Amino acid sequence: MRKQIAAANWKMNLTYQQGEALLDAILKENIQLADHQHAVFAVPFPYLIMAQTKLSARKNYAAAAQNCSDQPAGAYTGEVSAEMLRSININYCVLGHSERREYFSEHNQSLAVKTERCLELGITPIFCCGESLSIREVDAQESFVEAQLKESLFHFSNDEISKIVIAYEPIWAIGTGKTATAEQAQEMHACIRRLLKGKYGQQVADSIPILYGGSVKAGNAKELFGSPDVDGGLVGGASLVAADFIKIIQALK
Ligand code: 13P
Repeated sequence: MRKQIAAANWKMNLTYQQGEALLDAILKENIQLADHQHAVFAVPFPYLIMAQTKLSARKNYAAAAQNCSDQPAGAYTGEVSAEMLRSININYCVLGHSERREYFSEHNQSLAVKTERCLELGITPIFCCGESLSIREVDAQESFVEAQLKESLFHFSNDEISKIVIAYEPIWAIGTGKTATAEQAQEMHACIRRLLKGKYGQQVADSIPILYGGSVKAGNAKELFGSPDVDGGLVGGASLVAADFIKIIQALK
């Protein structure tokens, strides 16, 4: 079975102490993950070492960065490089979240470079894609996501693309409480897998985890993750509440 992932995205929330308490509460539950199941926590940069220290003691738990620079090193005040993440044993990095695309002008080309930086250092990119409401309203979501994938990812080799995790996050469902239905999610995930198959073949397409993000909650995770092409979720709000994220981890196939 391909990798199934419950990924928390804390965004810019929680103090260090609150973050530590949240991780402790989740780990205290002692959820044993099967070989194909993973729980990943994308925490703010200053919490990465703390989170990685706690999580790496458990099988298939890991910390993730929420972003990294497209530059390898140098005079880029305020930036964090993939090499810095590697040097503290971080194995995952969220890239191209819609909030970064919207508020920090990230675009498909710079995300292609960021993805390369991570892959060079053995960091698994969790590459986010997804359409806005205005695109969904004119039924152009498939071609929009296709362009995002083509422009950022489709220059990679079979080997490289096999190391990427994709997160489909329709912008209209993020933080709005308006979740995509399981059918809408499955439809887009199947479309993404079809695109991967067209470019890389069936075997590679079948091996890449595609996570759903956008108002995943304790109460809807099981249904969403139950769809054949939905391999877990990237979770914002509900990942900040221990009891909720515990249920979301337990909802993994
Ligand atoms: P919410 O779960 O709060 O809708 O956020 C989704 C998200 O953006 C995860 O990256």
